[in-house]
Amino acid sequence: MQGGNKNIKSLIIYFSQTGNTRRVAKCIQGGIIDLNGQCDITDLNDVDVKLLSDYDLVGIGCPVFYYKEPFNEFLGQVMPKLGIDNNKCAKCHACEINCPVQGINIEEDPPRIQTPCIYCFHCVNICPSLAISAKWDKLVSIAPMYYARYRKVLDEAAAQGQFRWLVDPETINFDDPLYKQRERNIKRKIKSKETDSPN
Ligand SMILES: Cc1cc2nc3c(=O)[nH]c(=O)nc-3n(C[C@H](O)[C@H](O)[C@H](O)COP(=O)(O)O)c2cc1C
Ligand code: SF4
Ligand code: SF4
Repeated sequence: MQGGNKNIKSLIIYFSQTGNTRRVAKCIQGGIIDLNGQCDITDLNDVDVKLLSDYDLVGIGCPVFYYKEPFNEFLGQVMPKLGIDNNKCAKCHACEINCPVQGINIEEDPPRIQTPCIYCFHCVNICPSLAISAKWDKLVSIAPMYYARYRKVLDEAAAQGQFRWLVDPETINFDDPLYKQRERNIKRKIKSKETDSPN
């Protein structure tokens, strides 16, 4: 788009759960506006498909999930199935509202989850009451084997100055995987809320 073309009407659509893609999309929008004076931007969930034909150029931005764009049919065969514990669920609907593919309905009995699913695990991460969980044991048990493979390649790259460890690889503890750390943190938060409450 060197030199700009004022006749081109453009739109950027982004899918972003933690804000990184949104930030990049906004920078690209700024660049296009500098050149062309116009560029619209919208969250994937807010796209009005009827308006898409008004645009000459539409860009779509998304994060990398499992080495590719976030739609992966194969993952259903290897990922553990998620379940919602009705006794813990506070019916806040946060998981339902934030599922990028409308794969959750809390009001169904039993609640519908992962139909469909892109395995982003956003629902697990945002549920305030730890009501959504899966059996991670199988994946956790094979993690050290995969890590050993990556470690060898990454150590070689580090020796050649092509890679830099941001954490000391010796401190990575497979007995304390991320899902356990998260459960601990949320339980701590719930406990401190209970202690703070006036009753
Ligand atoms: C389920 C999942 C899988 C991911 N897989 C990869 C991956 O294969 N390679 C990678 O570089 N980053 C991967 N990431 C990291 C995201 O691409 C990265 O955090 C991105 O900045 C998130 O974008 P957002 O902030 O716009 O949501 C993954 C993140 C999630 C949640
Ligand atoms: S986010 Fe958790 S507590 Fe809220 S509706 Fe979903 S499962 Fe229930
Ligand atoms: S992991 Fe949860 S939030 Fe993500 S697509 Fe599947 S059901 Fe929706």
